[in-house]
Amino acid sequence: MEWGLYKKIVKDAVDFGIEKIQLHFQGEPLLYKRFPDMVKEAKKYGLSTQVFTNGLPLTEKKADEIILAGLDSLRFSVDGASQETYELNRVGGEFKKVYRNMAMMVDRAKKRKSSIDLLWQFIALSNNEHEIEKAKKLAKTINIPFFVKTFAESVPGLTPRNPKFRRKLHVKPCTDIYRSTFVYYTGEVVVCCYDLEGQHVVGDLKEQSLIEVWNSEKYKTMRTHINNADQNPEDEPEICKNCLKWTHKDYLPQAVSLIDGEKRLTSDLNGANDLV
Ligand SMILES: C[S@@+](CC[C@H](N)C(=O)[O-])C[C@H]1O[C@@H](n2cnc3c(N)ncnc32)[C@H](O)[C@@H]1O
Ligand code: SF4
Repeated sequence: MEWGLYKKIVKDAVDFGIEKIQLHFQGEPLLYKRFPDMVKEAKKYGLSTQVFTNGLPLTEKKADEIILAGLDSLRFSVDGASQETYELNRVGGEFKKVYRNMAMMVDRAKKRKSSIDLLWQFIALSNNEHEIEKAKKLAKTINIPFFVKTFAESVPGLTPRNPKFRRKLHVKPCTDIYRSTFVYYTGEVVVCCYDLEGQHVVGDLKEQSLIEVWNSEKYKTMRTHINNADQNPEDEPEICKNCLKWTHKDYLPQAVSLIDGEKRLTSDLNGANDLV
């Protein structure tokens, strides 16, 4: 993202009244050279800052810069506990390297007496659920908090077999669209992080303020179509039709029965704040 545009977006977010900014979307934020500056800029306005990373590009230097910049929360996305499983979900990734990087980050944070919140997030899938206990132990060894994020029960092939790792779907209409908004590196705005390819761009922060975009006709129309998904399914945006989080009420009984009676993992606690 062009630096001037980033500064403008942060200012827009503050004017809007936003309190928390997540410095990633679908890309890898640690590849951005000025990532620590992005954190500093947001902290200047008192925003809470969080980032999700695959953890692979982290170096000691970057870790120190990020900590000094004042990042509040960093989540490592590591969905495996061996090379064999990890690379099924992160093609070309090296498990040993990311594990070393997590340990290094914990160590750097401790040395600098930082209060940064570090977390190993493990998305449970059918191809990695057998490694959850091993991952938990590995996390304990390096002293990083660990949590299992449940995965939608509606995706054949990827859904974990163990019902306690399946995410309970919520009944539409979706309310996530009222608590977050997403900006591409170009400044284009979409209403949901599932809009991976910008199918429903509702504004452009290069030309508009965030307040203008939020109140625009395009955004309002998207809200109406999402709100009325049950009554007017033909107007429901494409991205919502296979949503991993919200479902039509007619599909729900089946979804609920899959998790009934199961004690939920910690992911529900965290899940309340997760957007996906
Ligand atoms: C798309 S990534 C982008 C940030 C960073 N590159 C990373 O790997 O965390 C953001 C989050 O989405 C999760 N994620 C990736 N693909 C997903 C999928 N198909 N379904 C649900 N979550 C997914 C990742 O594990 C990560 O926690
Ligand atoms: S894809 Fe899902 S989370 Fe996103 S707006 Fe649609 S219903 Fe909401």
